[in-house]
Amino acid sequence: MATINSMTALLVDQLKDIYDAENRLTKAIPKLARKSANEELRSALEEHLQETEEHVTRLEQAFGMLGQKAKAKACAGMRGIIDEGSEHAGEDYEDDGLRDAMIIGSAQRAEHYEIAAYGTAIAHARLLQQDDVVSLLELTLEEEKAADRKLTDIAESVVNIEAAEGGDHEEENMSRRRPSGRRQTAGRQRATAAASTRRRR
Ligand SMILES: [Fe+2]
Ligand SMILES: [Fe+2]
Repeated sequence: MATINSMTALLVDQLKDIYDAENRLTKAIPKLARKSANEELRSALEEHLQETEEHVTRLEQAFGMLGQKAKAKACAGMRGIIDEGSEHAGEDYEDDGLRDAMIIGSAQRAEHYEIAAYGTAIAHARLLQQDDVVSLLELTLEEEKAADRKLTDIAESVVNIEAAEGGDHEEENMSRRRPSGRRQTAGRQRATAAASTRRRR
């Protein structure tokens, strides 16, 4: 393994890692989309697949700007996230909405990983005054953030909480247990993690 002896080499090394991650995602996203029952979720994933293919192209351009050939270096982090995602999507769920909620969780983990990776690479490219690389990677970073926000929005509508909680009977019990004004609060609990993500931005 070559020694990383400069900031540029460090940046190139990170680009190789992200290049591998993005390439893996071009194969993983269609599988998640196929398993999604919610149409909005499926089309959001398909749309982000197209963006992901563009991310691969942008990385190839960034390598070129740094006088390097595009090369991938196995990204163990993304491999793990993808493995977990396909494991969760393949489990048995009583309600399709529950699988969709899990798929959203997996997709958001991938997005957050990408957001972190691009954030660091952009900071390093900025230190190196590689302005063209910075601008290029920032386009991708914005698309990753937008994809994450969209998934958060979908998460709030994807689960039919009544079906997922066992239908009318359960609903009757729930309305007896608390005043009707609290229905919205219960619904919001579906996407606690996603909503807290949004609040941070
Ligand atoms: Fe990406
Ligand atoms: Fe992404």
